[in-house]
Amino acid sequence: MAKKRIGILTAGGDCPGLNAVLRAIGKTLINKGYQIIGFNDGFLGILQRRYRYLDNMALSGILTYGGTILGTSNKDNPFEWIPPYKLEEEGVKAEDYSDRCVELIEELNLEGLVVIGGDGSQTMALRFMREKGIKCIGVPKTIDNDLNATEFTFGFDTAVERATTALDCLHSTAMSHHRAMCVEIMGRYAGWLPLHSGVAGGGDVILLPEITFSMDKVCKYLQERRSEGKRFSIVVVSEGAKLDGEFVIERTVKNSHDPIRLGGISEKVAAEIEARTGIESRATILGHLQRGGSPSSRDRVLASQFGYKAAQLVMDGAWGMMSALQHGKMTAVKIEEAVSSLKLVPLDHPLIQFARDIGTCFGD
Ligand code: F6P
Repeated sequence: MAKKRIGILTAGGDCPGLNAVLRAIGKTLINKGYQIIGFNDGFLGILQRRYRYLDNMALSGILTYGGTILGTSNKDNPFEWIPPYKLEEEGVKAEDYSDRCVELIEELNLEGLVVIGGDGSQTMALRFMREKGIKCIGVPKTIDNDLNATEFTFGFDTAVERATTALDCLHSTAMSHHRAMCVEIMGRYAGWLPLHSGVAGGGDVILLPEITFSMDKVCKYLQERRSEGKRFSIVVVSEGAKLDGEFVIERTVKNSHDPIRLGGISEKVAAEIEARTGIESRATILGHLQRGGSPSSRDRVLASQFGYKAAQLVMDGAWGMMSALQHGKMTAVKIEEAVSSLKLVPLDHPLIQFARDIGTCFGD
């Protein structure tokens, strides 16, 4: 009897733990008699016919590595795509290339596709299911931890750890120079990462996308700290916090389902603090250090659990489902549940309440 074949891809921004997921899904299914085809660079690999067989050897020795052995892309929407050679053409419009993907999936005789990705990638999986009849299983992935229907995503713990280490390092130089250090932390729309690392790293001010802040209040707070004899401050700034109600955008890119690249708010906040209070201020943008490198042990375990659950969903034929963590246990939810809205930090979140009660300023 012909072996069952499953396609697998990692899409969107990379995240520590992706290889652990691939290993868990792949090894479980291979040991049950499946063949695994890995597409390179997310959905782009299907569109451009770039793929390879993943056998046990290919999945060996990858557990501890950061990134993804398959590669990924956040410019990989086959429903609205511009081929690279056309990108510079004036007035060029994106076109629907999704049928090319369907052709390859049928040619390879794939029973279905496992999509390891965040909000954008799971939305794409849904479109392939609904509009093209491709069977998909989802695995949630994002360092931002902003996917609905799962308590945590793998990669988040590692990113919190990286940001906390950076805050610890910045503390000593802030103290020595009596400065305000503004530290920009990822998290495009949701402030989970700046909130958790801000609490873990003892941020004096924490600015989140969910809470409108005023520079006046931040500056007043920093001046009060100074007058109490505290000569340094750590200001944690989410890249997605809004300055005067607007995102600070570094640039916009073509061919992406999320074309806005945030960045630079910490520099603006530092400049404002210095200009308004006279407190010497510096900005540090942690950027991709937060999502590179080896996953934490907690993320390796979580990613392995997510992957194992996804393999079980494949074997059960539970198409349209995504592995998820709920009440501390691995479970399955409908993909549409996960992408119905982003999981933002609630304003009454216990960590916010705790931080406020010990005197942390949220700028509101
Ligand atoms: O969604 C994850 C994330 O790391 C965000 O926190 C950040 O805004 C974004 O990706 C940056 O993505 P990239 O640099 O890959 O475009």
